[in-house]
Amino acid sequence: MVIITKIPQLIAYVAEQKEQGHSIGLVPTMGALHAGHMSLVERAVKESDTVIASVFVNPTQFNNPNDLATYPRTEEEDCRLLAGAGVSAVFMPEVCEMYPDGAHQEKEFDLGEAAEVMEGKFRPGHFQGVAQIVSRLFELCRPDRAYFGEKDFQQIAVIRNMVRSEGIKVEIIACPIKRADDGLALSSRNALLTPEQRAVAPSIYKALKEGVEYSRTHGVRETHHHIVEAINAVPELETEYLEIVDGRTLLPVEEWEESPDVVGCITVYCGRVRLIDNIRFR
Ligand code: PAF
Repeated sequence: MVIITKIPQLIAYVAEQKEQGHSIGLVPTMGALHAGHMSLVERAVKESDTVIASVFVNPTQFNNPNDLATYPRTEEEDCRLLAGAGVSAVFMPEVCEMYPDGAHQEKEFDLGEAAEVMEGKFRPGHFQGVAQIVSRLFELCRPDRAYFGEKDFQQIAVIRNMVRSEGIKVEIIACPIKRADDGLALSSRNALLTPEQRAVAPSIYKALKEGVEYSRTHGVRETHHHIVEAINAVPELETEYLEIVDGRTLLPVEEWEESPDVVGCITVYCGRVRLIDNIRFR
């Protein structure tokens, strides 16, 4: 596996792969890799001749400086995992390589209504930052396919909107959430949980799953209440939001019958660690 840290080196590598007629799969990550990331890599390796993974903690998508400062970083272990999984190249730039003029937003992307709700409301600027880095990675890596995890359900919808509005030719592949045996959605942020917090965090998924059962005999509002109450009753857990939305538009639904695709998207603070998850109701 080639380790690339500079943009000209990446451009040359991609040109070489294209000249050889190789298809390119891109797995963008912020590192601290876990089995969820590795499931994206595994799929990319099966489907593409050349797989590029990026490891870059993108400052422009963090609206909370403390979140950025404490974001877990495990570059050596990340490289070991990626090489073992058959990745062809890893792109690990410094912040100044990606943002030579400073890490700020240079243009406003059209990300549609899907970017205004949920994470868009609670983390202003977050999706603009995601669009900025992902569009740059697409421009540099020119992938045929790019792989994203469904844990970040809203992120996938927003990236699809960005690809459409920017006219980028790439297939966006959504891969299912990976969970620990106790149901907790795998996330790099789980590494920040204390043992006590880690022990209660699976209550989020447990409440979501029970919520799906409850929804068979109750309305959207009652189900919403039921889930939030169950989670907030657990010490250390505090729901920031639960939105029950149409999985295609991400806009809230009032009745189950409104859409064939209804998803509950949730963010919960476990102590100071912000965890997100989602579940399909219909
Ligand atoms: O999902 C993530 O880890 C990040 O938002 C991404 C897509 C790598 C962009 O920095």
